[in-house]
Amino acid sequence: MQRFLDRVRRDIAEGRTKPLSRTRGFTLEYSVRQTMNIVDCSNGHHRAALLDIVNDTIATSTALYEYHPRTVEGMESWFRSKADGRFPVLVAHDDRDLVLGFATYGPFRSFPAYKYTVEHSVYVHRDHRGRGVGTALMQQLMARAVSQQYHTLIGVVDAGNAASVALHERLGFVRAGVVRQAGFKFGGWLDAAIYQLILPTPDAPVEG
Ligand SMILES: CC(C)(COP(=O)(O)OP(=O)(O)OC[C@H]1O[C@@H](n2cnc3c(N)ncnc32)[C@H](O)[C@@H]1OP(=O)(O)O)[C@@H](O)C(=O)NCCC(=O)NCCS
Repeated sequence: MQRFLDRVRRDIAEGRTKPLSRTRGFTLEYSVRQTMNIVDCSNGHHRAALLDIVNDTIATSTALYEYHPRTVEGMESWFRSKADGRFPVLVAHDDRDLVLGFATYGPFRSFPAYKYTVEHSVYVHRDHRGRGVGTALMQQLMARAVSQQYHTLIGVVDAGNAASVALHERLGFVRAGVVRQAGFKFGGWLDAAIYQLILPTPDAPVEG
């Protein structure tokens, strides 16, 4: 509780707001502005920040089913594959260009008839979670998927990841199923929940 109150005080002192925070037994409302811009990732500063966020997530959570930190070279090739596939990498930053989080998508499976389906991911820096950054990134990413004429967005979410489950359900994603014991990390089996959102696009789907 003390940590929660400290966070509320810090948010208010720094001029941020969160529309609604729930705690056990009572509801506390306070108002925060999180100044945020969402742009396409296009510079080295943003790329370095993305790598830090990814590596922190790998080291501290089961959100990513990876064991080892990614390298600068590995991320450069990751960025190249995003550019080659015309897949967006959206970055949320504040008014001092501090990177708050990012979201992207890429191929779901490589077989041609999956061409209207993409698998996305979204990561928010640990100091900026729970303030709407993930929601804003996902909303922009969903709009981009529509503009690129995709039909299905897939999120593969560790079933124990309460924040990601809440984020996806809040945005209208439906749980399509759970792959039991799909991963093994930190000494335990992990269930992967598949979340999907069907988009109104494409206007005229074609084969080939
Ligand atoms: C999951 C993640 C992207 C969510 O982004 P965020 O900016 O923290 O989420 P938001 O502030 O936009 O909140 C979205 C919803 O989730 C809820 N939520 C956020 N954190 C939560 C938590 N720890 N437990 C339960 N619900 C939570 C919020 O209350 C909100 O729902 P509401 O609007 O109905 O209140 C972020 O927490 C994160 O990066 N986590 C680590 C990496 C990760 O798990 N990525 C997803 C991989 S699939």
